[in-house]
Amino acid sequence: MASSGLRLLQGGRASDGLPGLLLENAGEVATLAGGMRVGAHMDDPALLTAPGGDPGHEAAPAVACWEGRILAAGPRNDLVQALEGSGYPIARFARLDIEGGTITPGLIDAHTHLLFGGSRENELVLRQRGADYLEILKAGGGILSTVAATRAASESELLDHGRRWLGEMLAHGTTTVEAKSGYGLDLPTELRLLEVAHRLGKEGPIEVHPTWLGAHAVAPEFRARPDGTEAYIRHLLDEQLPGVAAQGRAKFADVFCERGVFSPAQARRVLREAARLGLQPRIHADELAPSGGAELAAELGALSADHLAVPSQAGIDALAAAAGAGHPVVAVVLPSVNWFLMHEETTPARTFVDRGIPVALATDFNPGTSPTPSLPLAMSLACLTLKLTPSEALAAVTINAAVALGIADEVGSIESGRQADLAIWNVPTHRQIPYWPGADLVRAVVKRGRVVLERAPS
Ligand code: NIG
Ligand code: FE
Repeated sequence: MASSGLRLLQGGRASDGLPGLLLENAGEVATLAGGMRVGAHMDDPALLTAPGGDPGHEAAPAVACWEGRILAAGPRNDLVQALEGSGYPIARFARLDIEGGTITPGLIDAHTHLLFGGSRENELVLRQRGADYLEILKAGGGILSTVAATRAASESELLDHGRRWLGEMLAHGTTTVEAKSGYGLDLPTELRLLEVAHRLGKEGPIEVHPTWLGAHAVAPEFRARPDGTEAYIRHLLDEQLPGVAAQGRAKFADVFCERGVFSPAQARRVLREAARLGLQPRIHADELAPSGGAELAAELGALSADHLAVPSQAGIDALAAAAGAGHPVVAVVLPSVNWFLMHEETTPARTFVDRGIPVALATDFNPGTSPTPSLPLAMSLACLTLKLTPSEALAAVTINAAVALGIADEVGSIESGRQADLAIWNVPTHRQIPYWPGADLVRAVVKRGRVVLERAPS
């Protein structure tokens, strides 16, 4: 494959005014067409490949986009003929030569704590010396130190921080993210975080889906009280949640349901009331100890149960039963967390696949347990530490991540009518995306039919 950057074959970019964009001479297009992946289907990325592995072949795969949506994907010769014959003149398309690279759906990060003040590199050294994550939190560090820094951060500082890290995500192929609040723990700061998340999404190019995570930890001003946790739950139900619902920015509600943080009973109260106000539930479940989070996610019909590093057998059974009954709760697995916390890896991701539970992968981007913006790194870790196959890992950051966010009819696959969100990789097959950990493999990114990132020729 040539090492130069993308070449424009004809016309300008879609962003220069042409309604169409044709990506051609791909070595492989992983379409992920055909809906949510579970079981053996997770290993099927619905590939289009170049005959004889020759991206210069007239039938090498191509993807056509029109006014921000996917028109079709298929062999270039057939595709061009079909376009001409159905009122899409080829002269109206900007044409990009992929030079044998791989095209996938734009990646979707279904679990991030995008917005926060400060950083916590000091805890890395504390943990090297044996300090425990929840002990650091109880001593006023951890999430609480980020809460102090975030409360002190202005809206414009949070916007700058968000732009910086969304830029990093884009450079790693991400086109859609979920972004949680949860470092304010008081109404004004939680509203500020949700507003900034919303504004960043409007600004683009990455689209942002905000989640309210007021139940991330008991706020500092409640902690000295003997009834602190209950009083904070009352504050969440009576003040934060009504304020957040009235603001209208958050789509989802999340709770850190964990032994020593919020119990399943407390999480249930918060998430039920949130659902009543129109915020769909998702749960930080069984991250550090089996805590009943997976069971609660199944009971509530949550969109996702996230982490699941140490679910109970009953929790796995509950998720499998929900999937079997046609109400799947997506297991959003976060392999960089155990790695970064220096915990032994136990997440039973293979069991989830075998039991028919849909699996997604996300970064959990946050300053405490996973300061990485890279979904390709999460894919590498999932293959190396959880034994997902590269094709399963790709399904987990595209179509299944879209299901986890309730947006699979718009994004997550390359199918006619879907939003034209694409990642173009400088490798000949998607199987090489997790194979080169830490390499910058993204060649270009397309969001809503526009080339929004293109790597300079090397
Ligand atoms: O997903 N566990 C709770 N929330 C984050 C970590 C937050 C932090 O340490 O700042 C997580 O791991
Ligand atoms: Fe998280």
